[in-house]
Amino acid sequence: MGRPRDFTHENDAFTQAETRECAEQRSTIANGEASLRTYAQMCCMRTVDPTVGLDDTLIAAQPNHCMDNSDQKNLLSMTPEEFRRLGHAVVDWIADYRSSAAERPVSQATDPGGLLERLPMSPPAQPEGFEAVLRDLDEIAERHLVHWQHPNFFAYFPSNGDLSAVLGDMLSAGLGVLGLTWESAPALTEVEDRVCEWLRQMSGLAPEWQGVIQDTASTCSMIALVAAREATTRYGAARDGMQHGDAPLVVYASEDAHSSIQKAATLAGFGADQIRSVEVDDCRAMDVGHLAACVEEDARRGLRPCAIVATTGTTTTTAFDPVDAIAEIAERNGAWLHVDAAMAGSAMILPECRDLWRGVNRADSIVVNPHKWLGVSFDCSVFFVRDDEHLVRVMRTDPSYLRTAFDQRVKTYRDWGVALGRRFRALKLWSLIRTHGTERLQQRLRRDLANARWFAEQVEAAPQWRVLAPVQLQTVCIRHEPEGLEGDALDRHTKRWLDAVHGTGRAWMTPAKLDGRWMVRVSIGALETERAHVQELWRLLREAVA
Ligand SMILES: Cc1ncc(COP(=O)(O)O)c(C=O)c1O
Repeated sequence: MGRPRDFTHENDAFTQAETRECAEQRSTIANGEASLRTYAQMCCMRTVDPTVGLDDTLIAAQPNHCMDNSDQKNLLSMTPEEFRRLGHAVVDWIADYRSSAAERPVSQATDPGGLLERLPMSPPAQPEGFEAVLRDLDEIAERHLVHWQHPNFFAYFPSNGDLSAVLGDMLSAGLGVLGLTWESAPALTEVEDRVCEWLRQMSGLAPEWQGVIQDTASTCSMIALVAAREATTRYGAARDGMQHGDAPLVVYASEDAHSSIQKAATLAGFGADQIRSVEVDDCRAMDVGHLAACVEEDARRGLRPCAIVATTGTTTTTAFDPVDAIAEIAERNGAWLHVDAAMAGSAMILPECRDLWRGVNRADSIVVNPHKWLGVSFDCSVFFVRDDEHLVRVMRTDPSYLRTAFDQRVKTYRDWGVALGRRFRALKLWSLIRTHGTERLQQRLRRDLANARWFAEQVEAAPQWRVLAPVQLQTVCIRHEPEGLEGDALDRHTKRWLDAVHGTGRAWMTPAKLDGRWMVRVSIGALETERAHVQELWRLLREAVA
C-alpha cells in the first residue's frame, strides 16, 4: 500500500472563478510551499479542486462514478441494477478482506484523529458514486482498524462474524422490514421465535424459557433489572415508581461482574447505595457466604433484596458464579435472579460445559451473546425469560396506531424490550445455525477450548510465567514474573512486554487488573485461530521477555 490517501470529494461543482483561484493554490503547492496535509485541508474547505491536475500518486485517478443523471429513476436512490453490480463488488471486497486477514498486522499504531483530519469537513453536494465508499474503505481498513477477524486476535472476547451471519445481516438490511407488530413483518417475529427456541434447545435450557433478540447484553441486563424491580414492587411503575415506601430495593452482583450491570442498575433506577458488590472467592466466583451475609444485613436494616446477578463467565477471568447456590438465596428472599452469560452462554452448546452453570433453570432471566464466541456478526444478544407474561406487562405500550386484529394471538416483541422498531436480526442467527448445523459449531468451540488448554499448559510449565486464574473456557490470564520484581515495577514490566508484542503487529491482547496488578488476558477463539497461531503467540511472548 502506498502513502495514505485523503478522502476528498471527487465531483464537487466548482465555479470557473474558484477553479482559477485553485490553479494558483496548486502552483504554490507544486513549489513546495505547502504540505500535502495543507493541500488536503484546502480541498476539504473547497478552496482547491482536488481532481484537477493532480499527481496520481497523491490522489488516485478519479473516474466519474456518479450514477447516470440522465436517467430520472436514478436520481434519488440506487436502483436494483446498480445494487446488483456494486453488491458483487462489496461481497468481493469483504471476501478479499477476510481471506487476506492473516497477511496484515492484526493492529497498528494510529494517532487519534489521524483519519478524522483527512475526512472531508462537509458532505458532498453532488453524487460521488458508491465506488468512492469502497475506495475509502481500502484506506480505512488498511490503516485505521484493529482486525477483529484476524487469526492472531486474542483481545477482549471473540466477536466472531461468521460470513454466513454476515450474509444473513445483508439479507436483513436488504429486506428493509421493520417489526413494530407481528402484522408489520410476520416472518420477522416467527423466525425470531423459532431461532430463540433453537438456541434454547442447543444450550440445554428447560422448555419454559422464552427468548427474544436484543442488541447487546447491556440492554438485556437493564431490561432484566427493570423486570426485577417491577416484580418486587408489584408493578410499582404503574403507581409511584421507585418511591414505593420506606424499603429501598437492593441489587447484588459480584465485584467481578461486568460494568454493564452497574450501568443497568443505575438506569433501572437503583441508586449507588443500593447496589452491593459481593466479594469473590479464590477462583474469582461470587462468594455465596458473603452474598448471604449481605442479604441478611440488608433485611435487618429494612431494605428489600430485589435482584441478584450471577455472572457465568466473568469478563476478566471467565469465572463462574455458583448459580445453584445463588438461586437458593434468591428464592429464599424473593429476589429476581438474572444470569449474565454474555460470553460463556455460547459454551453451553457443549453438553460437557453445562455443569458450569448448574442451577440456571432456577433463574428468572438469562442473557447470552451469540455475537461473541458463537459466531453471529455483532449485534445479537438473546434474552431468555421464564415468565414472559410478566415481562410484557412491564414493557407493554398500546398506542392505537399499533393495534392490530392479531394482538391476542401473536408475540409482540416490542413489548419484550425497549425498542419499538425491531430489525430482522434473527436472520443472522438463523443463517449461522442453518449453514453450519450444531455439530460444526460445537467442533469449532472444542477446538478453541483445546487450544486454550494447550496454551495454559505451556505457560504453567515455563519458568517465571504464571497462569493467574482457573482456565474455565478459552481465556487464559497470564503474567511474566521475573524474580525480585513486584509492585509497580512488575506492572511496568507487564506493560513493556505487552507493548513489545503489540509492536510486532502479530498479536493483540487485552491487559486488565487482577487484585490491583496488571496482567494480560489471552482470549482464544477467533474463527480463524488454529493451533499454529497460538504457538506463534507463545513464541512471541517468550521473545518479548527474553
Ligand atoms: C460478562 C459480560 N457481560 C456483559 C458484557 C457486555 O456485552 P455487550 O457489549 O453485548 O453489552 C460483556 C462484554 O464483554 C461481558 O463479558
